[in-house]
Amino acid sequence: MNDQAPIFKTSQLEAADAPPRNMTANPTMGELIGARFSRRGFLQGSLAVSAIAATVSPLALLTAQDAKAAGGSAFSFPEVEAGIDETHHVAEGYDADILLRWGDGLFPDAPEFDPTAQTAAAQARQFGYNNDYVGYIPFEDSSEHGLLVVNHEYTNPHLMFPGIVTLAEGEMTLNPLSKEQVDIELAAHGGTIVEIKKTDGKWAVVKDGALNRRVTVNTEMAISGPAAGHARLQTNADPSGKKVFGTINNCAGGVTPWGTYVMAEENIHGYFAGELPAGHPEAANYDRLGIPEGSYEWANFYDRFDVSKEPNEPNRFGYIVEVDVMDPNSIPKKRTALGRFKHEGAESIVNKDGRVVFYLGDDERFDYVYKFVTAGKFNPDDRAANMDLLDEGTLYVAKFAEDGTIAWLPLVHGEGPLTEANGFASQADVVIATRLASDLLGATKMDRPEDIQPNGVNGKVYVMLTNNTKREADQVDAANPRAENAFGHIIEIAEADGDFAATTGTWEVLLKCGDPSIAEVGSTFSTDTTVNGWFGMPDNCAVDSLGRLWVSTDGNNPTATGRTDGLWAVDTEGDARATSRLFFRVPVGAEMCGPLFTPDDETAFVAVQHPGDGGDDWEGFGRVSYYEDLSTRWPDFDDALPVRPSVVVITKQGGGKIAV
Ligand code: FEO
Ligand code: CA
Ligand code: CA
Ligand code: CA
Repeated sequence: MNDQAPIFKTSQLEAADAPPRNMTANPTMGELIGARFSRRGFLQGSLAVSAIAATVSPLALLTAQDAKAAGGSAFSFPEVEAGIDETHHVAEGYDADILLRWGDGLFPDAPEFDPTAQTAAAQARQFGYNNDYVGYIPFEDSSEHGLLVVNHEYTNPHLMFPGIVTLAEGEMTLNPLSKEQVDIELAAHGGTIVEIKKTDGKWAVVKDGALNRRVTVNTEMAISGPAAGHARLQTNADPSGKKVFGTINNCAGGVTPWGTYVMAEENIHGYFAGELPAGHPEAANYDRLGIPEGSYEWANFYDRFDVSKEPNEPNRFGYIVEVDVMDPNSIPKKRTALGRFKHEGAESIVNKDGRVVFYLGDDERFDYVYKFVTAGKFNPDDRAANMDLLDEGTLYVAKFAEDGTIAWLPLVHGEGPLTEANGFASQADVVIATRLASDLLGATKMDRPEDIQPNGVNGKVYVMLTNNTKREADQVDAANPRAENAFGHIIEIAEADGDFAATTGTWEVLLKCGDPSIAEVGSTFSTDTTVNGWFGMPDNCAVDSLGRLWVSTDGNNPTATGRTDGLWAVDTEGDARATSRLFFRVPVGAEMCGPLFTPDDETAFVAVQHPGDGGDDWEGFGRVSYYEDLSTRWPDFDDALPVRPSVVVITKQGGGKIAV
């Protein structure tokens, strides 16, 4: 959710609207630089050089000839017109078909979706709510048959349940949820693993797929890695500190090189309520994460979500969860070695030395960019040998310097300030309170790090920074160059010597987002970018097998940008660098998640999240949207059905690679 978005009782609310959590005194880079010289004066004195450097890197210039030979942009498709209405729009010449909707059955015995008589038992056999991350795990390298894995990040009760909204003078209040409704929420969270197949050019769900599975808040999971079994993770229900039920607020994620599905636990704070006992040792740790925030009502029925009753339960959430999709009875594992924070995603790449590097964003204003480097090497010939690679390795947090270099600082117990005297008696303490450890290391406070994507074709890494309107002028630094950053930016990292495991590298801003026609916004889209092509609030991203960057957004709406969220194609090479074009846009109220391309680049999957959540600022609706009075009934447009978050599959009419 974006600062300007109309929001109501979502788990996203806190990330966007609460006070920033990082109150440490680490100086921003701007403060350091301000002490040395005035950057503004420097820029004015070398304007000609800076104007080029701001948008075109020397490396990009090297590849300009290649891009020119290909006609400038690496993408070819007729651009969609930006705007807003009740439905989705895709580039002309492409089909955008609904593949999976909230409530669709995933098993032969799954009940038909009936929103007026929904049950938790039915929901646990159906596609969950608010699809976010989408991954594809091919069968035998096929781009036409495999498993789709999808996160279900959160629930919107006002859009899901009939009869719970009261309107008074245009303001919405919710009746308390019943236990059955809370249980439906638990079953609508988590993830879906489902077999899909393309036949005669059209994708369909294989309902009797042997590997189909729902992961929910009731799924048994194991806790592994440095924090497993630690006293800070022990509860009345689990004195072992190694067994937990469920995963929550799974935002983006990833598919590992060995074909497992990783789910990031992001805004965990909203699920916990109650008051921590006075003087409890977790107070600082929880405060740094905003726990408890209490926007969900689960603690009314389940003691474990009440921190006054189970004060350690929150320490069992906020991790990267790994699921072995090839065994539908496998016990997912919370991989604590990758740290505990508001994990956005976990995209990875096999390094040239065989180790695997995961890039991790902590999505909150003024929080950090991380990466995890496995200790062991990926074995492409032995899947089983890779299954615990995520338990051992080194977690690093990023420090972006004004001179365009980056340092990856190891979060290792006993190194630097991470000592018992500072509250870190073991690596378990480091991972359980990752943010506090990173504060001590002096990491760079970023503008809400979202998806981070390594690009195996050009060797770069792309960091989506969605926005941060709370950054003040004296907190600006080179990596977060705008005060009141309403529209976000994208950073491109080049690791030293193309070694993704390197502890140093260089970086530059690929793109500052926002409307280029408004000078004060200071966006840096190329001049080839059309009125439809610019966007704000980059969130998820993908790199296709041609190495091209696709960016999806969260927070565009009539008030913020006069357009909906969507999927944009963003050039990174040559003269076309920082040119963006709109390929797909979502219905009113929705956010664009996914995206994901099959290995042959002939299919794109995108996730339309929380459609109909908003519309009061759209002239086509102009009032509060809720179950009985929705700004859109996408995708069914049936008066008997509510709006339904859905995964959309995009293919080129007549076949072929997308945008080629
Ligand atoms: Fe769930 Fe950071 O978006
Ligand atoms: Ca977001
Ligand atoms: Ca996101
Ligand atoms: Ca991604």
